Amino acid sequence: MNVLMVVAEMAPFATSGGLGDAITGIAHALGRIDVDVTVVMPRYQFLSDLGEARPGEGPAVALYQHTEAGVRILLVDDPESFDRPGIYGPEPGTAYEDEWRRWGRFCRVAAALSGQFDIVHLHDAQAAPTALLSSRPTVLTLHNAAYSVMAPVEEAVDLFADVAEAHDLFEWYGSANYLKAGVMAADQVTTVSAAYARQIAEDPEVSSGLNEYLAALDHPVIGILNGIEIRRFDPRTDASIPEPFGPDDLSGRAAARDELIARTGLDGSGVLFGMVGRMTGQKGLELLDPVIGRLVEAGFRLVAVGNGDEDGRVDGWVADHPEAVWHAGYSEDLARLAWAGGDSFLMPSRFEPGGLGNLYAMRYGAPPVVRFTGGLAATVVDADADPATANGFGFYDYTSEALAAAVERAMHTYRHEPVRWAQLQQEGMRADWGWDPSARRYLDVYQSVLGRA
Ligand code: GLC
Repeated sequence: MNVLMVVAEMAPFATSGGLGDAITGIAHALGRIDVDVTVVMPRYQFLSDLGEARPGEGPAVALYQHTEAGVRILLVDDPESFDRPGIYGPEPGTAYEDEWRRWGRFCRVAAALSGQFDIVHLHDAQAAPTALLSSRPTVLTLHNAAYSVMAPVEEAVDLFADVAEAHDLFEWYGSANYLKAGVMAADQVTTVSAAYARQIAEDPEVSSGLNEYLAALDHPVIGILNGIEIRRFDPRTDASIPEPFGPDDLSGRAAARDELIARTGLDGSGVLFGMVGRMTGQKGLELLDPVIGRLVEAGFRLVAVGNGDEDGRVDGWVADHPEAVWHAGYSEDLARLAWAGGDSFLMPSRFEPGGLGNLYAMRYGAPPVVRFTGGLAATVVDADADPATANGFGFYDYTSEALAAAVERAMHTYRHEPVRWAQLQQEGMRADWGWDPSARRYLDVYQSVLGRA
């Protein structure tokens, strides 16, 4: 079977958050079960050195090809759209004004390639309209239903003038909605956890109003939980942390913690929480505002790694509590150090389709504190709720008090119950968070979609 993945991000080449990691993980895991994967993505300005030009044939736009660990990557060379510094927009958390045109053109190129594959697998809004023109069956995975690409409706319909139902598929309260068009046109919609699959079919807020469309699909949305690449992210072999460690001997964690303190200048007498990811409203940062002063006094220390439209909020905490809070833009090395050297990991998400930071943190021995939503509810087990299988701490209510109570429980356990803390670490480090079971489920979805065609 051969599959074309259509997507805006793929780690390590282009990533803004979890999407890029998820694509690389899925592609490699499918490769291990003999699915031949090709990824098509834009040739961004910062990728101009990657790959070789592919001669002629196919779409009018030139393609560059690069092969990495058995996965073929096709880079669409459309300088007018993609010879720009950002993936989505000039700054993290922004979008270029003509985003609908650049992604629409990208989808047209992907659709022109589709005939050479058995299945075309689209990821998120940027790739979704490919479903309108693909000559092969399509699967659309929603990594985040909160982001769509909106266009003036006439322009979108013009760009897809060769699709008879374009107007009806795109139209959304007088605009064109790329995610809606993809949801309507794809042969199967999937998302990255079972809980989020239910949530987006019910909750207009989390699905940007697409819930009714999602709930009415002939084939209900399927949730397939994300994994992480356990070979690439392994504290026993990770060259970017000062000393290797593993579940049998965690002593190397102390060196990572020292290094994290040296890099950030934070006061190491407290309990160090990592927080890695896009700094956006989705991540529940607002919950910390009213309680951060009191938590800092109790010993809470925070290493925040990542950017987004809520950078200002995080930088405000740094200004108020310079010995307790530190913030830097995303880098994979820093992320690895935060997982390996942090005592715990904070992820109080308002909603979380899949959630990868929690998995990395557990793999590196930092029991996380999460809000139980989406994929976080499927992977984190609370220390008090189920001591036998616990690997972290969680809370349900989206309130500052619930967050503070969970953080306080974690700090108390870390300081006063070392045996229990070590059990949480063991549980998280020994679990198998790999992609292989998810890849088998994607293959099942491909087969059933092909069976229907
Ligand atoms: C998005 C979601 C995150 C998910 C990732 C990969 O970043 O917000 O929850 O893990 O995509 O699917």
